[in-house]
Amino acid sequence: MSLEGRAIGFTVNGAPVSLDISPVRRLSSVLREELHLIGTKVGCDAGDCGACTVMLDDEPVCACLVPVASVSGRSVRTVEGLANGRLSALQASFLEHGAAQCGICTPGLLVAGTALLERNPEPTEEEVRDALGGVLCRCTGYRKIVRAVMAAGAQGSLPVDVGAAPHPYPLHKDGERGASTLVPPSPRVRGEGKGEGQRQRLNASGDRPVSPLAGQAVGARVPRLDGMPKVTGIESFGADSFPDDALSVLVIRSPHHRAEFAFGDLEAFVARHPGVVAVFTSADIPGRNRFGAIQPFADQPALAERAVRFRGEAVALVAGERRAIAEIDPAEFPVEWMALPHMLTPGEAQGENAIRIHDNRPGNLLVQGYVERGDPDKALAEAACSASGTIETSFVEHAYIEPEAGWAEMDGGTLVIRACTQAPFMDRDETAIVLGLSPKKVRIVPTATGGGFGSKLDLSVQPLIGLVALKTGRPAALAYTRAESMMSTTKRHPASMKATIAADATGRVTGMIFEGDFNTGAYASWGPTVANRVPVHACGPYSTPNYRAIGRAIHTNGPIAGAFRGFGVPQATIMQEALYDELAGKLGMDRLEFRLKNALRNGSETVTGQRLESGVGIADCLEALWPHWERALADAAAFNEGSGSVRRGVGIASCWYGCGNTSLPNPSTIKLGISVDGAVVLHQGAVDIGQGSNTVVTQICADALGLPLSAFRLLSGDTAITPDAGKTSASRQTFVSGKAAEKAGRALREKILRFANVSPAAELSFEAAVLVIGEGGERRRVDLTSLAVDADGFVFTAVETYDPPTLPLDEKGQGKPYAVYGYGAQIAELEVDMRLGTVKLVKITAAHDVGKAINPLLAEGQIEGGIAQGIGMALMEEYVPGRTENLHDYLIPTIGDVPEIETILVEVLDPEGPFGAKGLGEHVLIPTAPAILNAIRHATGVLVTTVPATPTRVLAAIRSAEAAL
Ligand code: FES
Repeated sequence: MSLEGRAIGFTVNGAPVSLDISPVRRLSSVLREELHLIGTKVGCDAGDCGACTVMLDDEPVCACLVPVASVSGRSVRTVEGLANGRLSALQASFLEHGAAQCGICTPGLLVAGTALLERNPEPTEEEVRDALGGVLCRCTGYRKIVRAVMAAGAQGSLPVDVGAAPHPYPLHKDGERGASTLVPPSPRVRGEGKGEGQRQRLNASGDRPVSPLAGQAVGARVPRLDGMPKVTGIESFGADSFPDDALSVLVIRSPHHRAEFAFGDLEAFVARHPGVVAVFTSADIPGRNRFGAIQPFADQPALAERAVRFRGEAVALVAGERRAIAEIDPAEFPVEWMALPHMLTPGEAQGENAIRIHDNRPGNLLVQGYVERGDPDKALAEAACSASGTIETSFVEHAYIEPEAGWAEMDGGTLVIRACTQAPFMDRDETAIVLGLSPKKVRIVPTATGGGFGSKLDLSVQPLIGLVALKTGRPAALAYTRAESMMSTTKRHPASMKATIAADATGRVTGMIFEGDFNTGAYASWGPTVANRVPVHACGPYSTPNYRAIGRAIHTNGPIAGAFRGFGVPQATIMQEALYDELAGKLGMDRLEFRLKNALRNGSETVTGQRLESGVGIADCLEALWPHWERALADAAAFNEGSGSVRRGVGIASCWYGCGNTSLPNPSTIKLGISVDGAVVLHQGAVDIGQGSNTVVTQICADALGLPLSAFRLLSGDTAITPDAGKTSASRQTFVSGKAAEKAGRALREKILRFANVSPAAELSFEAAVLVIGEGGERRRVDLTSLAVDADGFVFTAVETYDPPTLPLDEKGQGKPYAVYGYGAQIAELEVDMRLGTVKLVKITAAHDVGKAINPLLAEGQIEGGIAQGIGMALMEEYVPGRTENLHDYLIPTIGDVPEIETILVEVLDPEGPFGAKGLGEHVLIPTAPAILNAIRHATGVLVTTVPATPTRVLAAIRSAEAAL
């Protein structure tokens, strides 16, 4: 086949196109780059993730695997072709059921789902799973996707006018988010969604979405306010708005775990490659070539200087015209590597012959966290019963479907970076340090972010594209390949843990000693946070009067381990919950009863000496699980009466998790104002990476202010126009930014009521540019155009900051590390094939105390998504540098791997949280893996001590136990 360009004709969404292009170009690249149909996403370029799924003559295909020559004369349909002025029934169903979170996978799922429904309008769940099995989603846990497809088929065509629901975030021509009216996009079903009372359980799964009135937003199942662009395919992610004239950037990376390097003739390289504009190395970095969020540990260079510490570390940038960069073979780049011995495990890094990775960190110890209370040695010595064990876990990859991407340009003297991120203000400050700029001269405009889970808290493309734009004066764009995303960004820490837990004869836990080494890789990233958070949480949500826990973050030449949903607590909980099962067995107690007996209660003191006065919901969660536990155990017993080789098991595990930073300042600021044309403009800087902060924070603010969601316009995270609402991490946005939004809403209401001289009972509404204030049958009308406006165009405004009240931890880890904790417990039911070691999940039942479920629809989505990641951690996910740098060797759960999930939302109001709410996002992953491992032990009689519990490991554990008999 000739590689020369020639005219290729086909139809796209019914319109004929003819393009003079190379016939071997990927269809995905042609759709995106030539036809600007950015709804077709690129997650892997290898047919693994399915994000680029389109219909080719009505059959779903991965567009990245299709050479454009093969579509000549044929018909292509993309997500943009599904809505024709009105959403299709499936698109509307995705909104209604909360089936899109970050939205990066949504176009591919919608296309695959549409293809299914067109040939089979009423598919079974199994048929949906089969049809959508090639499209990966890392956020949702798939359950709502299955429900959405089945409901769309069952309902037939129930289109929703795209124009009827004004787009909350209209995209400007460059992809920047703008402001418009927020209206729930799919208000087809109305109902009661608010719960009352101090404690309430919502059987969450059966409720329908609502469009709440003023004062009724909190507790309502509001479909996500930013959902419309996700289901129409116009949502603009990091790689979706590159300017045509942007320079492309190629990153040269180390193929070695540890090496020194020297560059050859870089000028000659540039000269040999027409279209290449420049090469940049660390010598070109104008500022301090070190970044990292946790001071004083910031140690990672944007571009390495003479030596690299991990495989995939960046050493140089090649910037040039897009086509020229695409043709470069990185192997041609003039760099000479001198590979050096390396260490990939904490054992090697702490051994006698250990290499020193950091000159100033003896023993390769980054940091050690420590908590001690009472006399744990005495408690263990005097205990009636104790259990000890060890657990090893693996590197886990975040595997969001959107690789890191963004572009930068100079706007006068200001560097503007548009990229996917979880932390725009931190990006701004760290980028400014690296590039030697004042933070005022750096503006971060977050694009939509296709999943983050902690890794997009760290800088990735930002300083690299910033450097090129700064040095060349031209826009610079970079989208990581799947391989470089996986090899260069952070992972969950592998942990090597040992622990002993002791109890008295009545089943009360009397003491615990825990020690864990966490492989933090080559640079610090969020290793200090993990080392400090683990000892606070390693006891689980249980009363533990005598306690000592040590968490060490150890440097190796492995991938950088950083923040990942739970900051080390999921690993520690596997250790603790395994020992709780063993203790219960030794004591002859029911496993749930043992946990309930030791659960923290109102008035309990934690291992850090913090007295929890109220809002402790773990016992409520465990009690909510009782009937499910008894039913599951009975089912398993009945199943196991048969003599087959498949055994059923049931496991349980709990979680608790402190919301926000550990004993550190953690403020969010929210600003809002009444515009002169009669809208509430909410400056909401809590970046929504799919978890729903755009919706939840607005719901809180709306009820505090007393106006409906439909009155709101949103200005989302942009360091030039929104105040700093902190990072999207540590399950803090609903709690911290939500509290700031509640305070701002109440402050604005107070100003308006004082202006109108009415009582707190007055009701507010808008009639165009008139603010109507009603009280006792009286209605006062305020013409907003008659009032003075401030610099933002507001006639009334409020700005409020909230910083959770915490206290530092002393040298024994005593203090008040968090103001609010969330709680949860899960039951896993599964079957193990004793001949093969394979595990088939049957059901997960999850009870989570969220304080107040601000939005039950979105809370369920968080729970289901967290459980899916917990399943991956328990059963399949193991990142091995150099071996699993793609999504076919690194396995994450598919739609077929996630079983039925039953969610129980428990509401034990927290006195500190907004409307009583607690954080949720990280809690939900924590109990899943330990519940699964405990269920495997229940089924087989053996505990798998190296995670993930792959079939090989499960089988080896079974065989080893049999051999020991
Ligand atoms: Fe599916 Fe984020 S919603 S990957």
